[in-house]
Amino acid sequence: MARWELLCFALCSCLGTAWAATLGVVYTEGGFVEGESKKLGLFGEYIDIFRGIPFAAPPKTLEDPQPHPGWEGTLKAKNFKNRCMQMTLTQTAVRGKEDCLYLNIWIPQGRRQVSTKLPVMIYIYGGAFLVGGGQGANFLNNYLYDGEEIATRGNVIVVTINYRVGPLGFLSTGDENMPGNYGLKDQHMAIAWVKRNIKAFGGDPDNITIFGESAGATSVSLQTLIPKNKGLFKRAISQSGVGLCSWAIQRDPLAWAKKLGEKVGCSSDNTTVLANCLRQSDPKALTLAYHLQLIHLPAPLVHTLALTPVVDGDFLPDMPENLFANAADIDYIAGVNNMDGHIFAGIDLPAINRPFGKVSPEQVYELIEGLTVDRGEAGANATYNIYTQAWGDKPEQEVIKKTVVDLITDYIFLVPTQWALNLHLKNAR
Ligand SMILES: *[C@@H]1O[C@H](CO)[C@@H](O)[C@H](O)[C@H]1NC(C)=O
Ligand SMILES: *[C@@H]1O[C@H](CO)[C@@H](O)[C@H](O)[C@H]1NC(C)=O
Ligand SMILES: *[C@@H]1O[C@H](CO)[C@@H](O)[C@H](O)[C@H]1NC(C)=O
Repeated sequence: MARWELLCFALCSCLGTAWAATLGVVYTEGGFVEGESKKLGLFGEYIDIFRGIPFAAPPKTLEDPQPHPGWEGTLKAKNFKNRCMQMTLTQTAVRGKEDCLYLNIWIPQGRRQVSTKLPVMIYIYGGAFLVGGGQGANFLNNYLYDGEEIATRGNVIVVTINYRVGPLGFLSTGDENMPGNYGLKDQHMAIAWVKRNIKAFGGDPDNITIFGESAGATSVSLQTLIPKNKGLFKRAISQSGVGLCSWAIQRDPLAWAKKLGEKVGCSSDNTTVLANCLRQSDPKALTLAYHLQLIHLPAPLVHTLALTPVVDGDFLPDMPENLFANAADIDYIAGVNNMDGHIFAGIDLPAINRPFGKVSPEQVYELIEGLTVDRGEAGANATYNIYTQAWGDKPEQEVIKKTVVDLITDYIFLVPTQWALNLHLKNAR
């Protein structure tokens, strides 16, 4: 503390006035940052909020993230930055920017002193690896992923991070020309930045937890399995998603790179040519080249999620089920919600949400066939028998509809989560 601060501290204490505990300007590896010091309630508690600190340089299209070169003077970190470029809900336009690798930090402060050695929680958003942003959706100027509540209730530092999504985050030729996993690599860069810098914000770099929901939960799980994260964080929480979900890993990324390439004028069987062309294509056009079909689906919706992590033999060296030894020292919580698959079920069989909608046993069988397509007819039959066991001769529509939601919830979330927890238990130290 500077001498004038000590003096002021003494004066304020004597007068019984609250001293605004704030970090002020913080020195990070990139340079100085200045956030907002916000007063909470009447009792002299404060929270420091830093919005939009870069954890990597503005990324080049479909290239690995690179360290930020740093800045002169003091960076004002008072406003959220853009989300990473992504399609809008209507899938007809894009929002966000390619320059998007920023994070936000909330630090709860005591009444008179700034906090030290606080536990740190890093949040990774979901959105099917297609959409999302570190601050979340905005309703009436309230952000869905505002870290203030968790920070003050839990007395922890909350960090929210951006990562690339959609084609710009996950397109891959399946070889060294365009290995993919850019969004996952962004997350890793952000986690490593927090590990190196959070002490200056009053955080304990040896007490970092990563947590996330849906695609963010799957990301959390994958980050625990990725060897490059060794030692960076201690704990992980997956809320509805793990690396073992059927939708976590794209097994044929080249097919998608070619398909999207054709739409942006990059037709080539040569992956060197294809990768170079995709990198030079218009990022907006590339983002819109992928379209999620939501009516008259050719397969269950979950099987049409295409732009996801890949096994690249390097950053993600193997299929997730073979990597659990890497998570042996990490404390792990994973969970799912009742009816977690409801949104997917409602798109596959819209009748489940209509009061007078009818779902026939044949439709349930067809849905199962689609989900268990890699297990053949025997797999579909066995699954159908298990889920219809309690139906009786004339099942009510309500029973059939609930079966559809349970089945999809089990397939997309619950079963892979149980499998992941079992594998973690087997490997954990
Ligand atoms: C991290 O912080 C939590 C909450 O204060 C505490 O319970 C835990 O023991 C800490 N873990 C380590 C490794 O310091
Ligand atoms: C692919 O294109 C590159 C660059 O034009 C060329 O050097 C390479 O020989 C091509 N590979 C094949 C298998 O044709
Ligand atoms: C699956 O069930 C159908 C209808 O009961 C039956 O005709 C078919 O032989 C079964 N297939 C297998 C492989 O068990």
